[in-house]
Amino acid sequence: MTQANLVLTPGDGIGPEVVAAALQMLQAVADRFGHVFHTSQFLVGGCAIDAFGTALPDETLQAALKADAVLLGAVGGPRWDDPTASLRPEQGLLKLRKSMEVFANLRPVQLYPELLEASPVRLDRLQGVDLLVVRELTSDVYFGEPKLRRVVDGEIQAIDTMSYSEYEIRRVAHVAFRLARNRRKKVTSVDKANVLESSRLWRQVVTQVGEQYPDVSLEHILVDAASMFLISRPASFDVLVTGNLFGDILTDEASVLTGSMGNLPSASLGEKTNSLGLPRGLYEPIHGSAPDIAGLMIANPIGTIMSVSMLLRHSLGLLHEAEAVENSVKRAIAAGHRTRDLGGNLDTQQMTAAVIQCLDE
Ligand code: IPM
Ligand code: MG
Repeated sequence: MTQANLVLTPGDGIGPEVVAAALQMLQAVADRFGHVFHTSQFLVGGCAIDAFGTALPDETLQAALKADAVLLGAVGGPRWDDPTASLRPEQGLLKLRKSMEVFANLRPVQLYPELLEASPVRLDRLQGVDLLVVRELTSDVYFGEPKLRRVVDGEIQAIDTMSYSEYEIRRVAHVAFRLARNRRKKVTSVDKANVLESSRLWRQVVTQVGEQYPDVSLEHILVDAASMFLISRPASFDVLVTGNLFGDILTDEASVLTGSMGNLPSASLGEKTNSLGLPRGLYEPIHGSAPDIAGLMIANPIGTIMSVSMLLRHSLGLLHEAEAVENSVKRAIAAGHRTRDLGGNLDTQQMTAAVIQCLDE
C-alpha cells in the first residue's frame, strides 16, 4: 500500500472541471489498488489574485513544496488579461514551476488509432507517430533578466531577455538522452542557432552531453524547420529537446496531431524528491483555461487523467496503476466515448465515468 500527499491546484476556467475528473480517477485507483491518497486543494492563478491579491499565495507554495506531487488544472482568463496589469495569473504558474525546480517538462504525444480522423494532418503522415517533447521549463525568455518596460526618447520600450546557462541546458539534455535510451534512441534538439547566442550555447552543450550517450543518435534542427517537420513528417521524431519558449509553441502544434490538445498530459520533474524518494513532480494538462467553454462542463478530461497516470508513474512509482489508467483511457476511446472537441457529445462527467468504468475491464 502506498500513502501519498497530493496537492491539487485547479486554477481557473476549465481547470476545476478537469481536476475534478482527475480526483475521481485518483479515488478510483486508490479504491481498486488499496492505496491512500490524501488530497488537499489550493488556489493558484486568477482565482488566487481575486482571493489573496497574488497569483501564488504562500500557503499554496508551502503545500506544494511539501507534497509528494502537485496536480494543476489551468490558469488565466479574460478577466485578468489587461496587458498593463501588474498581477497576472500566469505568474503563479511560473513561480510554482521555478520554486519546485521542475526544469524538465515531459510532453508525450501518443496517437489513439480511433482518433486519427480527428487530426488535421493526413492519415498517411500520422502512421508511427510517437514522440516525446522534453521542454526546458525554468529558464529562457520566460525568466531572463532584465524583463521590463522603460521610456526611451518618449516611447515605451519593452524588454525580455533570452538567456541560458550551461548547467540549465546540461541537466535537461541529460533527461532527454536518458529517456531516449528507453525509446527509439533518437534525440532531436531544437534551437535557433543561426540567429541566437543562447541557441548556439544550447547546441554546443547538447552536443557535449550527447557524447556521453553513444547509443543515442542526436540531430539538431532549427525551430522554424522543426515546426514544419512536425506536420510534414511527425513520425520521424522520437525525443525532442528544446528551450522553454520553443517548447511551449511546438507542443501546442504537436498536440493537435492527436486530434485535440485536450488529450495531452505533461509531467514536470527536477532533482527534488518527495517522501517516497521519487521526483516531486508538477503535473498538468498542456491545454489552457479555455474561457470559451469554461463552466459548460464539456471539457475533455483526458489530458488531466493522463497527467494522473504520469503522476502515478513518476512521483509515486506505481507503474502498474499508471498503465491501468492509460489503458482505461485507450479502451474508452476505442469504445467510441468522445467529448465534443473529438466530435462526440459526452460531457466531462460522462467521459470521466466512461474511462473509470474501463478501469475495471
Ligand atoms: C503551457 C502554458 C503556459 C506556458 C502559460 C499558461 C504560462 O501555455 O503550459 O504550455 O507558457 O508555459
Ligand atoms: Mg502552452
